[in-house]
Amino acid sequence: MARAARTFHLTTFGCQMNEHDSERIKGMLRALGYEEAPTRAEADVILFNTCSIRESADQRFIGHLGEAKRLKAERPDRIVAVGGCWAQSMREQVFELFPFVDVAFGPGQIHKLGEVLLQDSLEAQAGFFEFEDFSAHLPAARTRPFQAWVQISQGCNCVCAYCIVPQTRGREVSRPPDEIVAEVERLAADGVREITLLGQNVCSYGRDLDRSQRTTFAELLARLDAIEGIERIRYTSPHPKDIREDVVRAHAELPSVCEHIHLPVQSGSSRVLKRMRRTYDRARYLDRVAMIRELVPDCAITTDIIVGFPGETEEDFEQTLSLVEEVRFDGAFTFIFSPRRDTEAATMPDQVPHAVKRERMQRLVDLTQKVARERAQRFVGRTLEVLVEGPSRTDPDRLRGRTRHNKTVNFDGIASPGEFAQVRIGSATSTTLAGEEVLLARLGGGAH
Ligand code: SAH
Ligand code: SF4
Ligand code: F3S
Repeated sequence: MARAARTFHLTTFGCQMNEHDSERIKGMLRALGYEEAPTRAEADVILFNTCSIRESADQRFIGHLGEAKRLKAERPDRIVAVGGCWAQSMREQVFELFPFVDVAFGPGQIHKLGEVLLQDSLEAQAGFFEFEDFSAHLPAARTRPFQAWVQISQGCNCVCAYCIVPQTRGREVSRPPDEIVAEVERLAADGVREITLLGQNVCSYGRDLDRSQRTTFAELLARLDAIEGIERIRYTSPHPKDIREDVVRAHAELPSVCEHIHLPVQSGSSRVLKRMRRTYDRARYLDRVAMIRELVPDCAITTDIIVGFPGETEEDFEQTLSLVEEVRFDGAFTFIFSPRRDTEAATMPDQVPHAVKRERMQRLVDLTQKVARERAQRFVGRTLEVLVEGPSRTDPDRLRGRTRHNKTVNFDGIASPGEFAQVRIGSATSTTLAGEEVLLARLGGGAH
């Protein structure tokens, strides 16, 4: 006799990879007849898809576990399931630390969750599963009908000294190109206009495939660009050591590949980059940027930066500031170094004091925001193509969407979500643009 459990509540932490895995989890549960409950208290299955990239991610998740514990005590037939990177990194310890957890599973094991839920009794189901495969066969419950994430690889072969991801997502495995193309064709037929390709290091895509399928990332982009209906292609993230001219050229030559590259630099100091094991130095990074600027002059470049990596001196940090000035990033995600269990950097002797990290972070944020604001001024007065996503977050009477450069735009207009609007940009801050829709363009009058 099957259990009566029929509703679930899922909380997702972490990156787009996790968001995408959550779409698969939801798709799978719906296919099994589960419905989404609005609150945890109303759910028969309480799920967490976890992240462990920084300590703050762990803490956020553990903060939520208290409620799950209480709800489980109230109704012991409830199922508490913990998936994702934190679960994978903790393995069996999940159950030692939190005995009320029934099921734990790693990022490559989403289908196992379904198998467990199909069983009659939960007893002895507390088990942990190793990475197994892509979950591409599971239906994805997408949030927006016109945008989709597409996973092209899993795992990472790099050994960045600060990073936990190789432990949580395993060695790099590329998905066969035919499978990716088939998925994107299905998505296009389903009305998807914009795709974002996901991988920890998309530019090393295909190297592990056998000869008959061997495809470079640039070749994959060309195959996806050819698919009718897909108007925009994005991807995240390329590694500076692996981005080559063919990929940069794709931005110039393939109409659907957007004018934006997120190229995580981490530090502007060659000495720190070496200790991070990033395998490129400042000069090489700047070369890549010069290549982008030459081949795709208007391309937006964004980045990730870590401050306070062990051994980072004031001089090293100033090198990061000067790199920000030199590249003139359109945006940056900035992080305070967080020691992660079982990573090389966690036990390096010369940890930077917290107060110093905070002070550097503030200076870095001030500079990256100033540079981003200045860079964004180049859009003022231009008319840009915006894919409408929904109402503006601050003013429901206005619309919100994104440009090909990945800038969020709030604007007055009449377009619907999923449509492309021509928007004349009137002003720009470090993170958003504001403007109004050029309605003549909708009547076929064109925009200038
Ligand atoms: N694979 C991607 C990054 C995934 S993690 C890439 O290499 O581009 C996203 C970002 O989190 C990293 O770029 C890095 O800036 C940051 N990060 C990773 N580990 C961290 C740590 N231990 N402390 C602080 N920031 C970290
Ligand atoms: Fe982590 Fe480095 Fe791999 Fe990115 S490339 S996931 S930072 S190990
Ligand atoms: Fe993503 Fe966090 Fe895992 S950033 S890859 S969910 S550790």
